[in-house]
Amino acid sequence: MTTITIIGSGLIGRSWAQVFLSGGYNVKIYDNQPGQASSAIAEIKKQLKELEEAGMLRGQLSSAQQLALLSSHDDLAEALEGAFFVQECVFENLEVKQSVFQEIEKLAGTDVILSSSTSCLVPSAVFSGLQNRSRCLVSHPVNPPYYVKLVELVPHPETAAAVVETTHQLMTKVGQVPVRLKREIDGFALNRVQMAIIAESWRLVEDGVISVKDIDLVMSEGLGMRYAFIGPMETMHLNAPDGLEDYMKRYGEGIKRVLTSFGPIPDFVGDGSKEIVNEMCELIPSDQQHLAARRVRRDQLLMGLAKLKEDH
Ligand SMILES: NC(=O)c1ccc[n+]([C@@H]2O[C@H](COP(=O)([O-])OP(=O)(O)OC[C@H]3O[C@@H](n4cnc5c(N)ncnc54)[C@H](O)[C@@H]3O)[C@@H](O)[C@H]2O)c1
Repeated sequence: MTTITIIGSGLIGRSWAQVFLSGGYNVKIYDNQPGQASSAIAEIKKQLKELEEAGMLRGQLSSAQQLALLSSHDDLAEALEGAFFVQECVFENLEVKQSVFQEIEKLAGTDVILSSSTSCLVPSAVFSGLQNRSRCLVSHPVNPPYYVKLVELVPHPETAAAVVETTHQLMTKVGQVPVRLKREIDGFALNRVQMAIIAESWRLVEDGVISVKDIDLVMSEGLGMRYAFIGPMETMHLNAPDGLEDYMKRYGEGIKRVLTSFGPIPDFVGDGSKEIVNEMCELIPSDQQHLAARRVRRDQLLMGLAKLKEDH
């Protein structure tokens, strides 16, 4: 139980590799684009060195020790040899994922756990073509998983409880924070909550209630301040003298009244959206230079926040 295979070496595959290396696992990366897996290794090497220099390297091992556990493979059978856990990270396309898992099933032992990184496809669709679905589940990361540690574990209706348990233990051991969904649902939990926030933010701007800049401040300087440490349930529990029940007695009617005033699902791409996009681009132009600079800033801030959370 020491080897993990990553299938697909893009943004998420590389980040998962770093997470599992930090836990001391042998990590084998496979990609069907020749040379892609080996260039991922070069990128990971650079990243681990930089993290070590910044004092942000995760785990007990040095970057050199972690890199010694990493290998790239252009042959799938070779990549799967010895693995007890497979984390699939290929394109977000149902047919591609289904065919990748069918190939893997032919080559991997029956007790190997097959886990998908899919953001938006339900496990019953991803694994529908397989013979043995009891060892399959979705482990949905948040980008970038190296700094944002939540992983949603979503079972297929046939997934064995022991498979979810082993995956939960693995994710915890490598320093991620796994949560279990009791059954599959479109969008899982994180994206359903995120989409509710996106929809209401969009409606408020589109209806002329607030600017793009200010709705982002509502999250980053308001709700987000608490949510980095306590969720909506605990927030309510703490915000009334006698806890959650008291909170709902005081505020439940008001919450229901406001909820009935929420508008329909926005169009997001129609004429009404152009002004919102322009307003955003005036704040941060959408050329690669500006976006890249803001992404670097975001990742640095996330790194600092991850450190702060570790200390609490
Ligand atoms: N990027 C995100 O923010 C994010 C967050 C959470 C989950 N995810 C999920 O992670 C998965 C990967 O996303 P990404 O952003 O890393 O994509 P990406 O495009 O950066 O990387 C995909 C990689 O898969 C490889 N690939 C494609 N088909 C393959 C096949 N048949 N066999 C082997 N390798 C193959 C490609 O060559 C590429 O290197 C997707 O399912 C995505 O929904 C992404």
